[in-house]
Amino acid sequence: MTRHLLIDTDPGVDDALAILIAHAHPDTRIAALTVTAGNVGLDHTLRNALKLCEVAGIDAPVFPGAALPLVATPEDAAFVHGKDGFGDTGYTPAARNAETEHAALAMLRLSHQHPGELTFVMLGPLTNLALALSLDPTLPQRVPRLVIMGGAVTGRGNTHIPVEFNTGFDPEAARIVFERWPQFELVDWEATMRHGLPHAQCNQWFATDHPIARFYDAISCNTRNWSIDRRGDEWHSADALAMAYVVAPEAALETAERHVSVELGGQYTRGMTVVDWDQRTGAAANARILLRYDRSHFESWVRRAVGMAA
Ligand code: BDR
Ligand code: CA
Repeated sequence: MTRHLLIDTDPGVDDALAILIAHAHPDTRIAALTVTAGNVGLDHTLRNALKLCEVAGIDAPVFPGAALPLVATPEDAAFVHGKDGFGDTGYTPAARNAETEHAALAMLRLSHQHPGELTFVMLGPLTNLALALSLDPTLPQRVPRLVIMGGAVTGRGNTHIPVEFNTGFDPEAARIVFERWPQFELVDWEATMRHGLPHAQCNQWFATDHPIARFYDAISCNTRNWSIDRRGDEWHSADALAMAYVVAPEAALETAERHVSVELGGQYTRGMTVVDWDQRTGAAANARILLRYDRSHFESWVRRAVGMAA
């Protein structure tokens, strides 16, 4: 059975790899890309989404979404992904334009056109989905699966000490989604850290003689080099792991169902995900948290994403 994805994204080097994984999967169709500000500003994330579609031959509409978080002051991740979010390669912009409909409205419309069919995959800050949910709180009734890349489930984040980038960029949006979506799946930063991709292998895979590999190698090169100095032999691609789990959930080796909320205050903790690990509050679990995923499966999807055989 074909899996239809609405991918909300802020490309972003790891977003790009995630989208390429979805595109490479034979039983997966990308129904739409909804774009948000996050890693860099919306003008860049939108251009990047369109360019990636052109290079990879992804025939999906691209919708512009939120340019700013709901309340927070944006703090981008250009120092990781490059000023343009795609490694500052100076690529020629894509020939086609984005749609004019707003991402949040497109989410609602598509959920009505395809009730019970779409998987929503959130690879960036949750602003667009929070807007859609605020306009129409019945949205989850028409979307059977929501997978979110975000959070740091035991407080080891990648921005402020306990905070992960996507929930930290727009904490209010994350709170709205975590409170109003009854059941979702969560791939957090700490799972990302346990499932690194060896730099040596990535260098080899991305050197493949294929137009997608060439493009991906160019846009990811600076980010990968940046991470060698900081995180050692492995490169950590959060959105790619989330997408491997979306397209091949059967390769998950361990998950946990718990209640997860988002902290809005705190000097150090604003945007932190708070997990009721010991089930002390009595609140029903709203999240299935990915703990372990088959590494060889993940690696094989990364290879396929850049045009290699499994
Ligand atoms: C998340 O933050 C962004 O920088 C990445 O694209 C990913 O979605 C990881 O914390
Ligand atoms: Ca992202």
